[in-house]
Amino acid sequence: MKDEQEAVKSRVADPDMGLIDSIYARHSVRGYLDKEVPQEVMNRIFEIAQQSPSNCNVQPWKVYVASGELKDRLRKQMIEATVGGVTPNPDYPYRGNFADEYRTRQVECAVALYSKMGIGRDDKEGRMRAVLRNFEFFDAPHIVFLGMHPDFGTTVAIDVGMFAQSLMLSMVAFGLHSCPMGTMRNYPDMVREAFEIEDGTKILFGISFGYEDPTVDANETRTTRDGISANTVFRSN
Ligand SMILES: Cc1cc2nc3c(=O)[nH]c(=O)nc-3n(C[C@H](O)[C@H](O)[C@H](O)COP(=O)(O)O)c2cc1C
Repeated sequence: MKDEQEAVKSRVADPDMGLIDSIYARHSVRGYLDKEVPQEVMNRIFEIAQQSPSNCNVQPWKVYVASGELKDRLRKQMIEATVGGVTPNPDYPYRGNFADEYRTRQVECAVALYSKMGIGRDDKEGRMRAVLRNFEFFDAPHIVFLGMHPDFGTTVAIDVGMFAQSLMLSMVAFGLHSCPMGTMRNYPDMVREAFEIEDGTKILFGISFGYEDPTVDANETRTTRDGISANTVFRSN
């Protein structure tokens, strides 16, 4: 295993972007250039993410990267299902019933994106187009689906989230961008079929990634964060 890691490292020069810069530079990108990420770069990025912590180091994440024809096939299937009104069948249902300050932030986030996309409050068609962009994978050349065995439950799903953030930050350091996508849990059977998954893995979410297209309006979207006093308590007695 160590030899394998060393071999990957030696083939790709690591960038010198610092961690803090990567954290601030990461943002959800919803429009990509038609340019594939070299396999060696992908190997390095995924190897870095592999260093993420996990409960008892079980490394529960299952990682399926779709590119090329397979990605195109999944995209077509998901668009057809969405347009055709096929009821989503997520392995892990989403509870998006946010209230209070969470609802406020949710609305602000939607307004930030839709205003950049030129979609008004009552523009139903525009909103549908925005939803469909998810299933077009925002034109990304690659999409990674992240899953785990359902027996692990919520506490171990945290590990998969940690893997995801490591992955997205590594991408930024290598000049790539991404969008984490809960919408990618809508049709998990398509993912299982595409990757011939037979070990009971359930799909938690996906991440589209590639090189950001700076001409796409949606990519001008920026979200804000509350100050730490909103959710962080420091106490010493
Ligand atoms: C688990 C998860 C699922 C998400 N699902 C979607 C999605 O399906 N579609 C989408 O456009 N953005 C999705 N997002 C992106 C969030 O909207 C985004 O992270 C948030 O608004 C903060 O903006 P930023 O990523 O640009 O900092 C998701 C983010 C996370 C962490």
